Amino acid sequence: TALPEAYNEPVREYRPGGADARALRAELTHQLGQTVEIPSFVNGRALHGGGRRIEVRAPHDRSALLGVAHGVSAQQVNEAVDAAVAAAPVWRELPFDERAAIFLRAAELLAGPWRARLNAATMLGQSKSVQQAEIDSACELIDFWRYNVSFARQLLTEQPESSPGVWNRTDHRPLEGFVYAVTPFNFTAIAGNLPTAPALMGNTVVWKPAATQLLAAHWTMELLREAGLPDGVINLVVGDAVEVTDVVLSRPELAGIHFTGSTTVFRGLWQGVAANLETYRAYPRLIGETGGKDFVVAHPSADPAALRTALVRGAFEFQGQKCSAASRAYLPRSLWTALRDELAAETEGLSFGDVADFTTFGGAVIDERAFRRLDAVISRSHADDAVNVIAGGRTDDSQGWFVRPTIVECADPRHDVFATEYFGPFLSVYVYDDADYSGVLDLAANTSPYGLTGAIFSRDRHAVVEAMRALRFAAGNFYVNDKPTGAVVGQQPFGGGRASGTNDKAGSVLNLQRWVSPRSIKETF
Ligand code: SER
Repeated sequence: TALPEAYNEPVREYRPGGADARALRAELTHQLGQTVEIPSFVNGRALHGGGRRIEVRAPHDRSALLGVAHGVSAQQVNEAVDAAVAAAPVWRELPFDERAAIFLRAAELLAGPWRARLNAATMLGQSKSVQQAEIDSACELIDFWRYNVSFARQLLTEQPESSPGVWNRTDHRPLEGFVYAVTPFNFTAIAGNLPTAPALMGNTVVWKPAATQLLAAHWTMELLREAGLPDGVINLVVGDAVEVTDVVLSRPELAGIHFTGSTTVFRGLWQGVAANLETYRAYPRLIGETGGKDFVVAHPSADPAALRTALVRGAFEFQGQKCSAASRAYLPRSLWTALRDELAAETEGLSFGDVADFTTFGGAVIDERAFRRLDAVISRSHADDAVNVIAGGRTDDSQGWFVRPTIVECADPRHDVFATEYFGPFLSVYVYDDADYSGVLDLAANTSPYGLTGAIFSRDRHAVVEAMRALRFAAGNFYVNDKPTGAVVGQQPFGGGRASGTNDKAGSVLNLQRWVSPRSIKETF
């Protein structure tokens, strides 16, 4: 049977006074006026933990208490794992179409009646502008659900050759056990995709969202339940990352981890799995997408206006808190002279504030920890003679965690500002002599341990080809004359290698393949 064809959800504009803007504004007012009790969700039941109290406040306005949750106990984490393990036999025996229908329905609910709720939760809870929320918590999450279904179907129909008297076939089994999904704050879409992709393939899941994304995670879970997700298939656990993970990693049924977050935490998960290896029934699959120090390289032939826009949007949209954000730029001296002042002026002109005011470019960084980290990086930059701050360089925590978008110029290409991920609105610029283009490609390729995204700006085709070759392993998502952010599901499968992850491209057949463990059957007649 033919499936509905997957397509990318059109991005809405939220024009002032329009129906979409009015609906979203009403939802923002509603959510600002309440404090949601955010439970864990185990085997279809809301579970109020007795542990540490977690407050969800708007990063741009600490006085707005949006939600309250309580961490679960070790015993309750074990109950979540038990629920996932118990739900597996029924879930995996359901025909694929019945599982698929739940996620297709979730996509349509989100495209329609749930859109404003999830967008508002993402704007308030994660401090995203309306445009940044719309491309994330509406469009990208809808796209993940639609495209995963069609990619899964494609994968499940793959069968080997047979011969007379012999029928060979592939039984696309899910993994035996449960999958642990650990999700980040920065994309509601990723948080929604990581538990649902394995579930679509017939696995059951324990999902631990970031404490800084609980509001949107909570509503995503409610949406999935409304779409018909059976009890126990995805069990949401709120709690301390280390405590929850320790319990999960001790369980023999752990079959896989689907992770997006920091490189350090992902390495810790590998080490935790290694330390428990003899406990497991099978080798757990570890699928992760982690940090980046994403580059923009410009050739002297680059279009300066396109380059400037890409730098500003690539580095500063969502306050630079995208693993794909542009954070180091290699620019030729011939362009820099004019670009420098324009780039600084455009950056100084960006407005950051209350995201419920639809005209702001962005909000605050996610929490106090992020603020302190970035504040320290900025203070060090001011104090460092090798680093010249040319825009921003200011912070303000009087009401929220505001960090002005900051651009620094540094003549030492090996400096920390070109190697370490700061995960915020901070762009480091290295200016090179025009004749040294090949040398600068080599620097871009080898200065940081990451390999996530990058971009080349050039109107000279030869220079593009040279960059593609030199930067082959430096980025899993490579852009020619565009910013290195904003991959679209079904168009640019997303992920990177090196210290940036296992490159199992979210929202692609490659990713879904990791959630099946095929059995080859040879039947003779
Ligand atoms: N997929 C996002 C982007 O491309 C990052 O996670 O910007």
